[in-house]
Amino acid sequence: MSDPIVLGVETSCDETAVAVVRGDEVLSNVLASQVEAHARFGGVVPEVAARAHVEAIRALTHRALVRAGVHPMDLDAVAATRGPGLAGALMVGFSYAKAAAWALGKPFLGIDHMEGHLFAPRLEDPGYGPPVVTLLASGGHSQIVHMADWGVYEVMGSTIDDAAGEAFDKLARFLGIGFPGGPAIDRASEGGNPAAVRFPRALPDRPFDFSFSGLKTSVITFVRSHHRAGTLPPMADLAASLQEAIVDSLVEKTLNAVEATGAGAISGGGGVLANRRLRARLGEEAQRRGLALHLPSPLLCTDNGAMIASAGIFHYRRGERSPLEEEVDSSLRLGA
Ligand code: KG4
Ligand code: ZN
Repeated sequence: MSDPIVLGVETSCDETAVAVVRGDEVLSNVLASQVEAHARFGGVVPEVAARAHVEAIRALTHRALVRAGVHPMDLDAVAATRGPGLAGALMVGFSYAKAAAWALGKPFLGIDHMEGHLFAPRLEDPGYGPPVVTLLASGGHSQIVHMADWGVYEVMGSTIDDAAGEAFDKLARFLGIGFPGGPAIDRASEGGNPAAVRFPRALPDRPFDFSFSGLKTSVITFVRSHHRAGTLPPMADLAASLQEAIVDSLVEKTLNAVEATGAGAISGGGGVLANRRLRARLGEEAQRRGLALHLPSPLLCTDNGAMIASAGIFHYRRGERSPLEEEVDSSLRLGA
């Protein structure tokens, strides 16, 4: 049987993304970012996101098909993110994809966004596969997932408050250095000393869980008091130090999960995995322990349609189909 061709649609947050994938080959992967629409609010505004998806989705789908050189009738199936995410935003891509599948008479597949992230490394890396421990960290989620086999997931830990990307975004906003905050802090930390200030690492007794709200409070308290006293360290040191606290937590808890499961590989997904310090630290630790490391390139780390198409192909091959009556689920939980 030839490799199935699937259209993947992703609108769970602030990125309208559509891709065409054949087997493990990305034929096209396009997106319309809404960063500018949200920047003036300093965060993602759900209503603004949903409207922007409506405006972008049709032309973007057309572009994805043209770039792929695929006629809609040549598709084997249409896949779209069902959740988790912003309900109004999810509904745009999900309804559009269901309507397209219905009109074309093709199967439809509703996909868990997190499962999409777990499939992303496969599109660049033929050696990638289970058993693997995956660190998923973005503006909306921070989780550690053990994938024992394709389609078999255990969420080992998650954040009990803010997501890692959210912590970067809130801290960058407090420091007045830009939105989105992750890239801003990543840049601001260049040349800084990560050991200049020792910010707290939370939840030492919970090996796989994260907490970042205490760090936020601690940075704010530190900056206010040192600003008053005129003893504030340079921005590069401050940025490198708070980045180190976040990176330390993410790396340590991922390694705990690797140890607990005996998995021989680590992978990652979500915008925070674009962080240079995090990538470097994961690289060092993987090398030291003889673990394989599968980090997607930045474009496949952040939300994209190709990862949804890839997970869609997996379910399509297993003969699964989603009913057109299926609705989005903004709090969908992987493995639940
Ligand atoms: O996966 P993503 O594009 O969207 C979702 O949130 O689902 O992730 C965006 C998040 C933002 O919080 C952003 O600040 C963070 O990823 N991010 C980074 C970096 N690039 C993006 N965080 C740290 N370092 C980066 N270089
Ligand atoms: Zn995501």
